[in-house]
Amino acid sequence: MTKKAFITGVTGQDGAYLSQLLLEKGYEVYGLARRSSTPNYWRLEELGILDQVHIMEGDMNDAHSLGALIKSVKPLEVYNLAAQSFVGASWQQPMLTTEVNTLGTLHLLNAVKLYCPETRFYQASTSEMYGNSHFDSPQDELTPLHPKSPYAISKLAAHWFTVNYRESFGLFACSGILFNHESPLRGIEFVTRKITDGVARIKFGLNDHIALGNLDAKRDWGFAGDYVKAMWLMLQQDNADDYVISTGVNHSVRDFLDTAFAAVGISNWEPYVRQDSKFMRPSELNELFGKSSKAQEKLGWKPKVSFEELVKMMVEADLKRIEKLKPIPAISRT
Ligand code: NAP
Ligand code: GDD
Repeated sequence: MTKKAFITGVTGQDGAYLSQLLLEKGYEVYGLARRSSTPNYWRLEELGILDQVHIMEGDMNDAHSLGALIKSVKPLEVYNLAAQSFVGASWQQPMLTTEVNTLGTLHLLNAVKLYCPETRFYQASTSEMYGNSHFDSPQDELTPLHPKSPYAISKLAAHWFTVNYRESFGLFACSGILFNHESPLRGIEFVTRKITDGVARIKFGLNDHIALGNLDAKRDWGFAGDYVKAMWLMLQQDNADDYVISTGVNHSVRDFLDTAFAAVGISNWEPYVRQDSKFMRPSELNELFGKSSKAQEKLGWKPKVSFEELVKMMVEADLKRIEKLKPIPAISRT
């Protein structure tokens, strides 16, 4: 019998890589996509899998549509990846962030409990939940949580609902506490992709600078393609549990700039970067890095792509995209 997986947030970065992984494993993939005036399937198209994913229209804010979809698909596994995932926007839109990230998760957990309680459930939790607990670095499953943004608070509540539905109703519900993970399919507003896209534009003479906020923040950046494997592994275990997924190494935004500009042969990026207070946050997380030894021991999971390989992969992908946009010989612009 074909294994069915239902992915919310299928049009996002992780949704695309996870769809690809599950299709390779022989799953039938059903993906929730919200209606918009312009379809947003570019990631599934870039991976060449759009025609293999069953796109199901619905919205995390609409309990009725979620319930109807879960009832009709009756998936073996549900991966709840949909979110208002941009931390910066969560101060401007705290209600929407909470509705999608917290109540949306609750709608989905209820639908699973009601229509297919044997279904295995993955919740996309986040290292943002730790807040500034770098006195407890690196962070693991036992580190105290102290969220510092509306996004982090919304995700913390969804995390505890997931744990609670496991403990109260016996659902096979796992929460993956994932540290930052990036890729060529990353949204353009996140700092890594903003930098690699900016570097490519500067290289081709389309822009003369990148405007950024806090350059001293440090993150534990891994490759999204590695991280979706951990999501799948969590749902293949005998018991549901929560796991930290990270590389264990962190770098500052400055380090990211060093590596990204070096990939196009620019050793001094300072003339190309401007700091703009518009991109500073009301409450900043200075430093995150995780300890994923539980996942390494119990799931046999390990990150494969290094920080340097990740940055290079992202710069190369953006150079290709920008080159198609405006094919100016790079040499005449450096
Ligand atoms: P992403 O690229 O921003 O994708 C988010 C997805 O959620 C998109 O498909 C988006 O649809 C969908 N979505 C947003 N609001 C929705 C709604 N009301 N109804 C239905 N779908 C909705 O995020 P990502 O990087 O793939 O991350 C996946 C998940 O992991 C998120 O929950 C994120 O918070 C969490 N997470 C991410 C990281 C990371 O570093 N990437 C780390 C820890 C946790 P549209 O395409 O229509 O916008
Ligand atoms: N986005 C952005 N834009 N961030 C900037 C900029 C800028 O111009 N300049 C500096 N930064 C800093 C931010 O202040 C933050 O400290 C860091 O770069 C990373 O920002 P993001 O790339 O926006 O990611 P994030 O860490 O806030 O959140 C991501 O990771 C979380 C896991 O820790 C998102 O993917 C979340 O959804 C995820 O939960």
